[in-house]
Amino acid sequence: MTVSAASRLEMKQISIAFPGVKALTDVDFHTAAGRVHALIGANGAGKSTLMKVLAGAYGHYTGHILMDGKEARIRSPKEAKQHGIQVVYQEVDTALIANLTVGENIMLEKTVHDMTGRHWVRWKGLHQSAQAILERMNVKVSTRKLIQDLTLAEKQMVLIARSVAMKCRFLVLDEPTAPLSKTETEQLFRLVRLLKSDGVGIIFISHRLPELFEICDDITIMRDGRLVVRDEIRKLDHQQVVEHMLGAKLDGQFPCRKREIGEICFEARGIHDSGKVNDVDLHIRRGEIVGLAGLVGAGKTELCRALFGASRASTGDMYLNGRKLRIKSPHQAVRSGIALVPEERRREGIFVDEAVSVNLTAASLSRFAKWGSWLSSAAEKKAAVEMIANLGIKTPNEQAKVKNLSGGNQQKVAIGKWLLVDADVYIFDEPTKGVDVGAKRDIYDLVAELAARGKCILYASSEISEMTGITDRVYVMYDGRMIKELESDKTNEEEILLYSTGGL
Ligand SMILES: Nc1ncnc2c1ncn2[C@@H]1O[C@H](COP(=O)(O)OP(=O)(O)OP(=O)(O)O)[C@@H](O)[C@H]1O
Ligand SMILES: [Mg+2]
Repeated sequence: MTVSAASRLEMKQISIAFPGVKALTDVDFHTAAGRVHALIGANGAGKSTLMKVLAGAYGHYTGHILMDGKEARIRSPKEAKQHGIQVVYQEVDTALIANLTVGENIMLEKTVHDMTGRHWVRWKGLHQSAQAILERMNVKVSTRKLIQDLTLAEKQMVLIARSVAMKCRFLVLDEPTAPLSKTETEQLFRLVRLLKSDGVGIIFISHRLPELFEICDDITIMRDGRLVVRDEIRKLDHQQVVEHMLGAKLDGQFPCRKREIGEICFEARGIHDSGKVNDVDLHIRRGEIVGLAGLVGAGKTELCRALFGASRASTGDMYLNGRKLRIKSPHQAVRSGIALVPEERRREGIFVDEAVSVNLTAASLSRFAKWGSWLSSAAEKKAAVEMIANLGIKTPNEQAKVKNLSGGNQQKVAIGKWLLVDADVYIFDEPTKGVDVGAKRDIYDLVAELAARGKCILYASSEISEMTGITDRVYVMYDGRMIKELESDKTNEEEILLYSTGGL
């Protein structure tokens, strides 16, 4: 395969529509080799769509793509790759073959592309070439390992290595850091800097502004399918970027809450779960937002799942309003008054082929059924439409299929579904992962409102600022254990981080 060595990439007047949605309107975008370019905008602004156009995923856009000033006809993935364009999408699993080795995943596409006529695949050479790329990237993963045995961060590295094998000139990373820990993110950044010094142009999509300011040279801000600003990133500050994205000022990152905290309502004692959760005790008062802090991998997700009856191996006792609960399944948890907004929302939280309204009301059907079958659909629709407005879910209407929404808007649907359930205890596992700053605020507001209604909230997050921002009390987990309990107004981010890393 020949890859053109263009050093300038331009997209001009790009427009594209899907049934009921004008996703992009006359968008101009340009970047160059050796630059790291931030692409930012609220959920549904059109970032992923613009990059999919560049990757040749859609044939029906209008506008032009130019490489070094010359028209590049990009209407298929193959044409995009011939121009040296590679994209690492957020759903890394779908892009890799789980039961093949790291080496095969890195090299097979290239091998197939390079083949002319009948050909043997030289397996030894394949692993050597893959090894050389990984070494150059400073990634320590054996090329003989199976993809299914890798962590998410490692899978991402394999995808980047594959792009390098394909000799990419421009690499798009669509929200690469959302699922990564701090150390993994730092490793990714070292790699981005290395690729940059090799002359690769990188387009970096992320909702984490501090990261963009750290790693990017230029920035393009989009809003509602249009270009708003393009500049060198150092010419803008955090506040200005947010205002351009939202088209309005954000009044404070976190809501001001009037706290009315009651009696202990929920209690868990001696929770164990197959080594990932060890002897955890916790309690939540009525109207209290309790944070669950800890690094990625500390056991927060496992604890949330254990409390929700979603883990087979878990043991321990739980009490709600003084009554002992028997919870062996999520179904029993919901019936007992416990709701969980899971972290793995795409896998566990939503039916992508169903309508937004079906998804939003899926967990609370009993609430609508009591109205009788005729009335229920009206009540269901009303509830769905209200939740769409409350969370600012960007969708043409409540009938649209979830798979056609942007990544962040799919997250909001998964959250909305559980907010419609009438529970006593709401457990949130990383609810703001992958959502834009405006939507984050909407989610904080809703969490605060639930607390104001006397609900018990357990809020698990690896964003430490959220702990001091919205919680009343914080439990810190480290290596499966609850190692510290802190009053939110008497602690700070440094202290929480210190305990999260096992310090003291
Ligand atoms: N295949 C499709 N069919 C219908 N609508 C689509 C399709 N792809 C994208 N859209 C719509 O285009 C708009 C832009 O979506 P896009 O995924 O590009 O947003 P985004 O900026 O990447 O958002 P996020 O930060 O949430 O990932 C959204 O309103 C989305 O619903
Ligand atoms: Mg997206």
